[in-house]
Amino acid sequence: MAILVTGGAGYIGSHTCVELLNAGYEIIVLDNFSNSSPESLNRVKELTNKNFKTYNIDLLDKVNVEKVFLENNIESVIHFAGLKAVGESVEIPVHYYHNNITGTLILIDIMQKYNVFNIVFSSSATVYGAPKQVPISEDFSLSATNPYGRSKLIIEEILNDVYISNNNWSIALLRYFNPIGAHESGRIGENPNGIPNNLMPFITQVSIGKLQELKVFGSDYSTPDGTGVRDYIHVVDLAHGHLKALEKIMTRSGVEAYNLGTGKGYSVLEMVAAFEKASNRKIPYSIGPRRTGDIGECFADPSKAERELGWKAEKGIEEMCIDSWRWQSQNPDGFQKDKNSIAHVLV
Ligand code: NAD
Ligand code: UFG
Repeated sequence: MAILVTGGAGYIGSHTCVELLNAGYEIIVLDNFSNSSPESLNRVKELTNKNFKTYNIDLLDKVNVEKVFLENNIESVIHFAGLKAVGESVEIPVHYYHNNITGTLILIDIMQKYNVFNIVFSSSATVYGAPKQVPISEDFSLSATNPYGRSKLIIEEILNDVYISNNNWSIALLRYFNPIGAHESGRIGENPNGIPNNLMPFITQVSIGKLQELKVFGSDYSTPDGTGVRDYIHVVDLAHGHLKALEKIMTRSGVEAYNLGTGKGYSVLEMVAAFEKASNRKIPYSIGPRRTGDIGECFADPSKAERELGWKAEKGIEEMCIDSWRWQSQNPDGFQKDKNSIAHVLV
């Protein structure tokens, strides 16, 4: 029996593949490499000394997705595949809705056909919209402020309906806060296309001189230093959360949402200071206006995941910064130079 990992070549997917393989799971990766490189999977194999099948398939390609279920004995699915850039989603909403929502519909339709009812879905703290208070718990009201967030919200609702229609389904909706960091080996990490939108990859690219300075988006929030506060979580902790969720859905049916965060918020300036300490490099920055759509403060109440999954984030901000720095300094061009490597990819 195998675990199908959609989007397994991506940032969170590749780290989760390492932990799944280390825990002894058989995995199959499905990815169209629209935002990733096959080289990340070569490195997953190198890190774990284990092999697995990889399908270069778009989730929208129903015929080939079905082939994956025909050819393999799949027990559960971890569904990472999706587009995730908030700004881009505002520019090309139809593409985002089609890729994220239609892709998920095709996947769950085929899962039902092959009697595979276990799914862990990558949701996001963005489904809380602009929360009225912090820390945020799972029963807070949900809303979306952009097409990306709305695609996550709609998929959560679809998965709720799917469970109502058939109680065999076992579904974990994992609402990630802000994943940063990288595998401690420095071999896999976040590899954004173009200029990064997110804080940590922006900082790391400033640290190696690829970008000149960080623009801090606003210093007039009602936070201790006026800059935005977020719940940064180490990507390896996040990967472990998927294994715990997988164990849970294999033993019960139902649909449950879990916050995966640390429960502690850090401001932009605190992140700059922590990264400077970890890398021993200065991060030049200037204060700019607020970014449209940003909220001041966002951090999790992660107690449900601890109570029900037995999962808790272990790694602190120092380790997150050290690992981000190691990845960026050892791979200044990400997986770029190996972008055309096609090793062992099926279809
Ligand atoms: P990523 O872009 O690195 O990984 C996503 C992977 O899915 C990529 O390898 C991409 O090529 C693949 N993919 C996209 N559309 C596909 C399709 N139609 N068919 C097949 N493969 C497809 O992103 P990530 O940071 O690893 O995020 C993984 C998931 O977690 C995404 O669903 C994302 O929305 C969600 N998420 C991410 C964050 C974050 O800050 N990184 C926060 C909350 C939620
Ligand atoms: N920030 C800057 N300068 C930058 C980038 C970010 O000051 O160049 C600030 C932001 O204003 C915010 C903080 O750094 O206060 C974090 O911003 P990110 O863009 O890294 O993360 P967000 O919390 O805005 O959003 C991320 C993902 C979303 C996801 C959300 C919750 O981009 O897709 O986390 O998981 F929904």
